[in-house]
Amino acid sequence: QEDIPPLRDVLAGDFGIGVAIDARETTGASAQLLTRHFGQITAENAMKPESIQPTEGEFTFEAADALVAFAQQNDLRVYGHTLVWHSQTPEWFFARADGTPLTSSPEDQAILLGRMEAHITAMGERFGDAAWAWDVVNEAIDESQPDGLRRSRWYEVLGPDYLTHAFRFADAAFPDAQLFLNDYNTEFPAKREAMYRVVADLIADGVPIDGVGHQLHVNLTRPVAQVDATLARFAELGVAQAVTELDVSISRSADESLPTTPPERLVEQGYYYRDLFEVLRAHELASVTLWGLHDGRSWLRTWPIERPHEAPLAFDDRLQAKPAYWGIVDPG
Ligand code: XIL
Repeated sequence: QEDIPPLRDVLAGDFGIGVAIDARETTGASAQLLTRHFGQITAENAMKPESIQPTEGEFTFEAADALVAFAQQNDLRVYGHTLVWHSQTPEWFFARADGTPLTSSPEDQAILLGRMEAHITAMGERFGDAAWAWDVVNEAIDESQPDGLRRSRWYEVLGPDYLTHAFRFADAAFPDAQLFLNDYNTEFPAKREAMYRVVADLIADGVPIDGVGHQLHVNLTRPVAQVDATLARFAELGVAQAVTELDVSISRSADESLPTTPPERLVEQGYYYRDLFEVLRAHELASVTLWGLHDGRSWLRTWPIERPHEAPLAFDDRLQAKPAYWGIVDPG
């Protein structure tokens, strides 16, 4: 596969192309494939709160440090993921010393706000200029709520202002980085509009938010026209936009587990990637990140159910280019 065009060259005039990785992608054939095709990395898990601060005040930066060093050695940009999230965040953040849950009392709010600031500040001291962008808050939107905000533990204790605090702490810790609000399903109209209102309000309040991240965990039934509409809508706000976690599931429903990978779905997926990238190229995007280097490393193999034959990415388990790769390369 030395002869096929590097994705980073094919897309050079459009946007940076990134990939989510862990230590497995930093050696051997995977590292070769990565550095040939991609110009940016996201830590798939290594920069999340549970990886960085499993116990209060005890920081474990080693895995993230190794990814940053690999990026620097190979001239790759880093997209930071993520500072404040309801998931993969240790329980201690939201509990008092005696283990009881924090409430929305002023005392408990001060405790959680202090922890948020300490965590973000420590991230800034360690990774201050390592990443050009950060997902400051991940998955904050719930379009079924009147204010559009998910009732996470952050929200329950601190209220809607937790977003403002997170972006202000991040701005102080990462003065030169672009600060993003990142979420999934932003291509659905109701979630799109809920997120739009939240971001517009933050901007109106002078909160230092620079961009919106669209995870884009999609499948073959998701109309690319909805992606087009979402990117056009946020362009009205004048914020930067990135596709942060792209994969295209070949399963048509949440409970479908295929006995094998049907070749015709891989072909259909190739056309899907082609149509999707035609849309992505038509918008101004800071970067587009694939959520995994090859199918064998996709989180969708085990989430939300075991799916050994899921194949959502551009390269297969044997690191060979799939129709999905050619869909990106040959706009047709
Ligand atoms: C996923 C990782 O890929 C898995 O390895 C991990 O077990 C769970 O998290 N939205 C996000 C990502 O913002 O951080 C998630 O990554 C996928 C969904």
